[in-house]
Amino acid sequence: MKIISHRGASAYAPENTLKAFALAVEMGSRDFEFDVHQTKDGLLVVHHDFDLKRTAGKDVFIRDLTYAELKKINVAAHFKRDPAFQCVPRLEEVMSIIEPPAAWLNFEVKNDNNVYPGIEEKLLAFLRSKPGLFEKTVVSSFDHGTLKRFRELSPELKLAYLGHGLSAMLLLPAIKKAKAVGAVNFHMALRLAFKLNVGRIRKAGFRVCIYTVNAKKDALRMKEIGVDGIFSNHPDILGKWTLKG
Ligand code: G3P
Repeated sequence: MKIISHRGASAYAPENTLKAFALAVEMGSRDFEFDVHQTKDGLLVVHHDFDLKRTAGKDVFIRDLTYAELKKINVAAHFKRDPAFQCVPRLEEVMSIIEPPAAWLNFEVKNDNNVYPGIEEKLLAFLRSKPGLFEKTVVSSFDHGTLKRFRELSPELKLAYLGHGLSAMLLLPAIKKAKAVGAVNFHMALRLAFKLNVGRIRKAGFRVCIYTVNAKKDALRMKEIGVDGIFSNHPDILGKWTLKG
């Protein structure tokens, strides 16, 4: 079972910052998840929310700022344990830390209602610009239109269906949608991670990864029911990688 660091080692350092990614690498992570947005001047950057309200206390959207403006804002401000200045990093800065040791990289593209037109082409060009990067990449998005555009642009790109507002009732339609877009992975919330659901999804041919698993007892249960990976803010959740492989 993969233990995927979720926004870096985000229990210990401000999420999606260079500090959080460097710490995840230091803790031994080889599998990484992070969120991709685009600035007003077209740079790919890593942050979870579309705006900076929660992380920096600023009522501004990433899409309305140039990178020169964005990089002056402290997105560690919300992180009480360590609020020292960290800016929203550029995607290539994050890659310079995590890509060399990475076995698997999950780019979650935040593009609800196509708020960043052309982000799919831009990310594909980036993935192809570095040897070996495309092969270890899986792209996910809560926005199904975004997944479809990625598929149209690249038949080879590995995609992950990301269940939004899923329930047990909606699982079969979601599996159909995931198949239609040619996804290889199915990512869903811990509240739905029961043996029956996970078994159904795996039987349909997908690898199943569960978010967000921060308690050891939940991690052990995920292993028990045959989950392929867990997203965790604590990449050290199971000690010294005892359940990897
Ligand atoms: O990509 C898995 C998980 O991170 C999805 O939820 O809200 O953290 O983007 P969220």
